[in-house]
Amino acid sequence: MEERKNIELSFVNKVYKYMKNGMSIETFMKKFNISEAELYGIIELCKIYGKDVTLEKYDDTLVFRKNIRRKRATSKLDLNSPKLIHNQICVVSDTHFGSIHNQLHLLNDVYEEAYNRGIKTVLHVGDVVDGNYPNRPENPRQQFLHGFDEQAGYVVDMYPEIEGINTYYILGSHDETHYKNGMATINDWISRCRKDMIYLGQDTGEINIDKVKIVLDHPGGGSAQALSYKPQKRIEVLESHTKPKILLIGHYHKSYSFSYRNVQCILVPALCDKTQFQQKQGLYNALGAYFLDIYSDKNGNIEYFEPEEIVFGKEDIWNETGKDKSKVKKLEIKNSIY
Ligand SMILES: [Fe+2]
Ligand SMILES: [Fe+2]
Repeated sequence: MEERKNIELSFVNKVYKYMKNGMSIETFMKKFNISEAELYGIIELCKIYGKDVTLEKYDDTLVFRKNIRRKRATSKLDLNSPKLIHNQICVVSDTHFGSIHNQLHLLNDVYEEAYNRGIKTVLHVGDVVDGNYPNRPENPRQQFLHGFDEQAGYVVDMYPEIEGINTYYILGSHDETHYKNGMATINDWISRCRKDMIYLGQDTGEINIDKVKIVLDHPGGGSAQALSYKPQKRIEVLESHTKPKILLIGHYHKSYSFSYRNVQCILVPALCDKTQFQQKQGLYNALGAYFLDIYSDKNGNIEYFEPEEIVFGKEDIWNETGKDKSKVKKLEIKNSIY
């Protein structure tokens, strides 16, 4: 019996080592020459030996996700130590205001939760609005707000506004179309009218919170087969002294967190539903946000980091929000009054 256990354990260790986050099950089955039924057996066996592996759909293929429980940096770490600086922030992305797929009520839910947690800083990683694509004839039907004025006005009027919370944002690929089409800079409009919305840059921006360097990034192009591939490549080219402590990536509408070269990296999910483009391409759309718990020292080094993923499901999506603007009211809280 003991011998069988040892054989199983060494087998589990071997296959678990080979499995990579984001690896397709086909690659794995081919390597070990096994059927799908056998693969499910192996996943069960991994669970028995304390290795939690699940499968998730990514661009129409099933890929592995290793659910590694995050451990405190050291078991002796005292989170109540006065030497540690504690910050909680909220991260959102890809709201695509003006798209019929935008989900303002979910953005409101996230901000309300941030308010209830006493959070003072929300970061937005780009594609605030849906933009304008004159070369895509299908585009107007995919939007309930067309052009710069309507979309910028909607952000100013409808973006959650809570006393004590500031939103720091970058602009992404969709926001930039307004500039490309007519040199209209949406950040100028938003930040002139909304003192609580602070612009950090086009495509990328940086903010330091108690010396913890955080970079917001909105790349272009499609995502790679493995969720972590492109962010890893981006981190690899950073020189040691320029590396942020936290790298937040929008644009992909995917949700994933990992640590690499001492950088805490988060792929931030979208706060809009799947678009027509994603539907046609068979692309997965992650809907949600992140809350980050950060404990750092006086020099901005992270001692403990806990990302909390907020995931919305199909049942949370309102298909009519775009068509019926009056259905969702602006979330505004002043003097603790809604
Ligand atoms: Fe986007
Ligand atoms: Fe984008």
